[in-house]
Formats: sequence, structure tokens, C-alpha cells
Amino acid sequence: MCGIVGYLGGRDVYDILIKGLHRLEYRGYDSAGVALETPEGKLNVYKAMGKVSNLEAFCRDKDLRASVGIAHTRWATHGEPSDNNAHPHYSEDGNLALVHNGTIENYKVLKDALMQHGVSFHTETDTEVLVQLIEYIKLTNGCTLIEAVREALGQVQGAYAIAVLEKGHPEQIVAARKSSPLVIGIGEDEFFLASDATPFVEYTKEAVYVKDDEIAVMRRGEPLRLLNLKNEETTVDVTELNLSISQLEKGGYPHFMLKEIFEQPATLHDCLRGRVVEHGRRIVLAGVMDNEDKFRAAKRIVIVACGTSWHAGLLGKYLIQELCHLPVEVEYASEFRYNNPVIGPDDIVIAISQSGETADTLAAIQIARQKGAFVYGISNVVGSSIPRETHSGTYIHVGPEIGVASTKAFTGQVLVLTLLALAVGHLRGTVSDQQVAELGGWILRLPTLVKEVLKLDKKIKHLSAIYTYARNFLYLGRGYNYPTALEGALKLKEISYIHAEGYPAAEMKHGPIALIDADMPSVIVAPSDHLYDKIVSNVQQVKARGGSIIAIVSKGDTEISKIADHVLEVPVVPECLTPIITSIPMQLLSYYIAINKGKDVDMPRNLAKSVTVE
Ligand code: AGP
Ligand code: GLU
Repeated sequence: MCGIVGYLGGRDVYDILIKGLHRLEYRGYDSAGVALETPEGKLNVYKAMGKVSNLEAFCRDKDLRASVGIAHTRWATHGEPSDNNAHPHYSEDGNLALVHNGTIENYKVLKDALMQHGVSFHTETDTEVLVQLIEYIKLTNGCTLIEAVREALGQVQGAYAIAVLEKGHPEQIVAARKSSPLVIGIGEDEFFLASDATPFVEYTKEAVYVKDDEIAVMRRGEPLRLLNLKNEETTVDVTELNLSISQLEKGGYPHFMLKEIFEQPATLHDCLRGRVVEHGRRIVLAGVMDNEDKFRAAKRIVIVACGTSWHAGLLGKYLIQELCHLPVEVEYASEFRYNNPVIGPDDIVIAISQSGETADTLAAIQIARQKGAFVYGISNVVGSSIPRETHSGTYIHVGPEIGVASTKAFTGQVLVLTLLALAVGHLRGTVSDQQVAELGGWILRLPTLVKEVLKLDKKIKHLSAIYTYARNFLYLGRGYNYPTALEGALKLKEISYIHAEGYPAAEMKHGPIALIDADMPSVIVAPSDHLYDKIVSNVQQVKARGGSIIAIVSKGDTEISKIADHVLEVPVVPECLTPIITSIPMQLLSYYIAINKGKDVDMPRNLAKSVTVE
């Protein structure tokens, strides 16, 4: 989510900032901007909607002289992507310019208070509150920028990495962080600043990772200073970077897909932030809270989506039926739109889409609205069409997903659906406080548990070699892991071009079992849940026909582990949370098989990240 770059030193500031933004563009690219302070202390801000290349075109005829600068490539969370909402943001009197990565949760309260003191706002972002607050404190208290930043951060709740420039002070950058990343590169008489080290790795290997609640002060001719919020100096720990330029754009990973698979502990954490509070005892989902009457009165829920998002939707059905006792139908958006859907004002339609631009899903939303249903969107891309066309909704906040095969967006969608089912169930009285607390506690542990699952990477890589030349695959699961099996099969076919079918494990005996022989491997998703004993029989049926089995099971499994050819053990979690855990080994398996086959995993043939045609 968004990239920040800063530079103070003798090189061409603009050039370094733009190159840095390109490196960080994978983090967000809905708009970009730079603030440049000339040696005589004039503070210029240039911003443009769209990719960094648009900003470069915009800046072509501008005054680009500078001895210090900060820059930003945005992935909007508050306010649509636009020139105006792009960062850097000026303070009211134009004396400060600030870039921010993260979200300010209490921005509304702070904004209202500042407005009462006569401060006016010019953008829809949460970020503007920060710069206005810092300026307000600076003017009211007559203090320095550093003091004002410290005081302002004491009032702010949320996540931030910020960098601030002050007019007339071309000798300094003040930066700070909490929960969002920020790293400083120390060169000879120069400082670099960025969301990750990629923008400056060719200039210096000396990096300082700023810690939560630290303020960094970079001043020309002085060593780096770090202060905590109590104004005490903290130690500057310098890390030696071990990165080569060729690894850069993908954050050190060979492909975006692998990077996105490995990002999942962090993306799930981002998705949860501020939504599971009081140590798991309360779920805060604004879209549900703002529409309590609709969710209380609903008689039925209909989920519309395509592809991977449809698989998440199918999991949504299982979750909502279990936790809310509400009937749920899941429709392919392309079928729903043309098949006289029987929908009315008593229904809630949930539309799920990573890109927020899928044409069939958009059309389904329009039909549902015409028929009087309340439409709720679950999307990743802020400001895209689907969030605009729906009555309310939730962003999954997993950051830009660049690999065409969806991985982190899937787990983000499933997580949001889990939170929604819990929140609505609690509202409707089908989920008790105790159940919320129990599941909430587990949900908070998911990022750590996913980290654990990712340790299977080496084993899966090794295993993939055995199956690279298989021509067909069967993916089987039951209950919550039937949709997961469908998603596993889709991943494999998308990027390796191996035909794969996902099936409910018990349904296999009604047809697909005819396909099983020594050349047809099956991936069986069988964590220890209430259907475990049932799926053991299905595994036996495959084995009896000579099929080889890769089983994804819970740690400590005894029965299936004895029958399967290869076993991937994942941590034990409550049944409704297993899909987030079990889908990850399948993502890795597809990735490695496709790599073994020499396929372009990030841009598989015939596919597009955003399907805006019927
Ligand atoms: C996922 O791996 C696919 N590339 C595809 O099925 C995708 O999920 C589908 O096109 C829906 O996209 P959306 O979530 O952006 O609407
Ligand atoms: N919340 C800020 C915004 O919407 C920053 C988003 C980001 O991290 O790019 O502008």
C-alpha cells in the first residue's frame, strides 16, 4: 500500500525520487507526487493521477531544482484516486508538505476539531488531517517541526509512515512510523528514505529500519537522529543491506506471484487492522455497522462474483449459513445477469471482486439494484467501479495484487467474509459474545499461523518436480475445503496449463472416479474437521484405484498420512478458518509446477488481471 521516497544530499533529487517511485510502484500506482524544496527554500509540490510515468510527463516543464525532496506513489484508502487526493499534501499555509503511507483511524474526530478551529480541508484523504494538525500545533505552540510532529503523533490513532518538509528549511527531512514500513539509507553526506530499501540500494548498503513510534531527523551535515515520542534519543542500529538491483522490483522475489504468496502474513494483518479489536472480543466492520437494519431484516443473501472471487463467495456461503443461519446462494455473475434472478428488497446481494472492475460482476450489481436489493461490495482496489456502484462494503486492504493468479486477494476476501459472517451473526443473535471472542482470538493469530504454513515452501518445491509432467489433476475436499479445492485447481490450470478439476470429495464416486489411474494425481484437502472420517473413505477410494495422493492435513494427523503418498501438514485451526490455511500450500504447488514448466506465472497466456469485457 503506497510507496514513499525521500532524499537529502548532493545528487539530482528529482531523478532519485522518480527512480525510487518506479521501484516502489508495485506497492500502489493510482497517483503519484513529489515535493521539492529549492536551495533557497521554495517548496514546490507536483502531483498527477495514474502511474509514475504520468507524473514524469506532468513535471517535464516544471522547476525541478532541489536540494531535498519527498515523493509518494499512492494506493488510495480514503478518497478516490485523483490529482487532488494524491500526495504530498500541503498544510493550510503551504509551509509544510507531507507524504503518508497507512490509514489514520481517528481522522474524522481530528478533522472536525481542526475545522472548529478554522482549518479548512482541500482533499478527501485521511492524510491531510496529519499535515494540518502538525501545522496547527506548530503555529499554536510556536514550536519546531520536530516538536509539532511528536505532539501530533501522540494524538493520532492508526498506521503511518510519514515524511515532512518545511518551507525555508532545505536542510532537513523529518519522518516517523508506526505499523507502516520506513527505512533510511545513510550515504556520505546524504540520506535516503523509503518504504523499502529498493530505491537506494545502488547508492548505499547502510540502512536503518525505523521502529514503531520513532521520529527520524535527517539534517545536512549531521548524523541521523532517532527520537521516541517522549523526546528521548533512541539508538541508531545500522543494517548492512544484502540486495542486488536485479532482485529489486519484486521485493527480492523472482515473481510477483511468489512475493504475493509470501506477503500473506502481512496482508492478512493489514486486512484485520482495526477490525478485530479488544483482543478479538469485538468485530468492527463499518459497512455492517452502518447498515445494521438491513442485515437484521435480510431474509436471504445472494453472492455474485467470478473466478477466484466466486470461490471466496462459496466459502462465504458456508460461513454465513453456519454463523448467521441465513440462506445463501452463490451465483457466477455472468449467469446471474442473464437468468432472470429472483431478487427483491428482502435480499442482500454481496458482490466480490479483487479488481472492482469485472464487467459481469458490475452488470450483476446493476440488476440487483434495479430489483431493489441492498448491494454490498467486497473489493481490493480503492476507488474502482464496484465500490462506487454498491450501497456499502468492505475493502480487503491487501495491497496491489500484480500476479494475474489471485493469491493474497483470495485469502483477504475469505477473511473479510469471515468477519462479516461473525459481525452479522452477532447482530442477529446467532453468534454469542463467547463465540466472537473465541474465533476473534484465532483470527488474530492467523498471520502467525500463515507464516508457519509458508515454511512448507521447500518441501512443496521439491514435491512439485515429481508432478511437473502430469497432464491432469484432481483436487478434492469436503465442507469448507470443497471451495478451497476448486481454488487449488483453478490456480494450477491458470499458470501451468495443466488440466485440473476441483470436486466435492464425496461426489467423485459419481463420475470423476473413472478418470483415476496411476497418471492422475489427486490433491486432497483434509484437515481435522467434522468431515474428516468421511473424507478418509474418499482417500481410500482413490488409493484403491492406483491414484497418487498429495494430502493437506492438520498437524498430528494419523490416518490419511498413512495412506497418502505425500503429506503437507498445516496448523490446527477452527474448521471455518481452515480455508485460509489450506489454500496456501496449493498456491505454492501451482507456482512451482508452473516454474518447472518454464511458464510465465505473472502473466499467464490469455488472461488479464482485470476482466472488463463480458
Ligand atoms: C484469479 O486467479 C483469476 N485470475 C480470475 O479468476 C479472477 O479471480 C476473476 O477474473 C475475477 O476477478 P475480480 O476478483 O477482479 O473480479
Ligand atoms: N490513507 C492515505 C490515502 O488514502 C494513504 C494511502 C497509501 O498508503 O497510499 O491517501
